[in-house]
Amino acid sequence: MSTQQDLFSAELLSPEVQAALPEGYKLRPLRLGDYETGFLDCLRVLTTVGDISKEKFQQRYEWLSNQDGTYFILVIEDTNSSSPKVVGTGALIVERKFIHDLGKVGHIEDIAVAKDQQGKKLGLRIIQALDFIAAKTGCYKTILDCSEHNEGFYVKCGFKRAGLEMAHYH
Ligand code: ACO
Repeated sequence: MSTQQDLFSAELLSPEVQAALPEGYKLRPLRLGDYETGFLDCLRVLTTVGDISKEKFQQRYEWLSNQDGTYFILVIEDTNSSSPKVVGTGALIVERKFIHDLGKVGHIEDIAVAKDQQGKKLGLRIIQALDFIAAKTGCYKTILDCSEHNEGFYVKCGFKRAGLEMAHYH
């Protein structure tokens, strides 16, 4: 598998979001080559990632790429320097239901913007880009879980509080 192959079709990328990004910043699907471009470091802003080998990364990437139309992980890359770097990422998982006439629900997960890049609207752009994919893939709603600390961010992205999160850790 090529390290430059996109996880999903670039046709699902919002042209409006790309146009709104700062100069030299690029919205694109995750690639296998992102093992080397700081994708995992970007995720470390969010939580523990662990020490993932290149081989394990490739296995997970290949598994995700075989789940047709389900996993959409995108990145924002800063191409201004000689070694482009992932500065933001987010994921949309499209769940297929029986209810609501075989409805689809989009789940937003793992939103992270590198510490030194926060406050430039990259988080907002990531959510807008994921919402665009959700609409294009026919999701009737998009939902997410977040901490109280991030509620204001998601309100600014157009989300509203709905329901209560429950968790059972294994
Ligand atoms: N609380 C309230 N408002 C906020 C917050 C917050 N925690 N963070 C950003 N905002 C506001 C901004 O001030 C801005 O408002 P404005 O339009 O009035 O100027 C607006 O939300 C958009 O902010 P961005 O610049 O797009 O935010 P940023 O690029 O810094 O990304 C994010 C926000 C993703 C929360 C980032 O701070 C981050 O990566 N944090 C650490 C990881 C994290 O907590 N991720 C979310 C986990 S929840 C999940 O993944 C489903």
